[in-house]
Amino acid sequence: MTAQIIDGKAFAATVRDKVAGHVARLKENHGITPGLAVVLVGEDPASQVYVRSKGKQTVEVGMNSFEHKLEIDTSEGDLLALIEKLNADPAVHGILVQLPLPGHLDEDLVINAIDPAKDVDGFHISNVGLLGTGQKSMVPCTPLGCLMMLRDHHGSLSGLNAVVIGRSNIVGKPMAQLLLGDSCTVTIAHSRTKDIQEVCRRADIVVAAVGRREMVTGDWIKPGATVIDVGINRIDAPEKGEGKTRLVGDCDYGSCAEVAGAITPVPGGVGPMTIACLLANTLTACCRANA
Ligand code: GUN
Repeated sequence: MTAQIIDGKAFAATVRDKVAGHVARLKENHGITPGLAVVLVGEDPASQVYVRSKGKQTVEVGMNSFEHKLEIDTSEGDLLALIEKLNADPAVHGILVQLPLPGHLDEDLVINAIDPAKDVDGFHISNVGLLGTGQKSMVPCTPLGCLMMLRDHHGSLSGLNAVVIGRSNIVGKPMAQLLLGDSCTVTIAHSRTKDIQEVCRRADIVVAAVGRREMVTGDWIKPGATVIDVGINRIDAPEKGEGKTRLVGDCDYGSCAEVAGAITPVPGGVGPMTIACLLANTLTACCRANA
């Protein structure tokens, strides 16, 4: 079998188009423009790329983008003061603090200082609790993007066996909650899981979010299963020239695609959906604030 490719890039474009349509109507009918504030502390190159991309796409869908770039040695007090200011600013509907933060800053403290209604990452403890209890919340963008692709591919997910590999707060745990919410039978596998290949081979859906390049190989996959690869790992690519790099996922694409029924590529799978969902969450936050 050769897997169907789930085209996250194309799907993300349709999500952005829908968001842009809503934003245009909000402006025209109500004079409201959704605004997203992104806070970056320090100069981590990968984070800078993400933040630039978020800002560009925010503007492209007609929203206001507010970028706050702070020095790497910014004090916790100064960062918290900025968050307080953004919480109080009616032009700001969504706030995202790019992670990871430099080591001297307490990530939990900072994230929980964001107004939960503006927490478009869905990382605030209130949103985590609301998601866990099946209540209306802000849903973390990467798992939300994965869920949208899975629903689009399968229709109903009810009764399917899903294995999420990875137990991070950003992806693994909320992904498991969302799949449970769609009535999957959910297993979270991680670095201590015994016979992890066997566990994965029972799955109709595998979501790989471990951050280890090409860890999941075709022999882990049940024939016909759907594979969602959340990993973004940059590796040397001498075949492209000296010093060149390329991106690979947490799944070995070649061998998994031979066995799976459907698979997301890297790049062009989950990555574009994450930012599209961030824009959708910002729109949602704006609509709730003005309801
Ligand atoms: N760093 C890596 N992924 C994310 C994300 O989804 N949100 C934030 N705020 N930081 C990240």
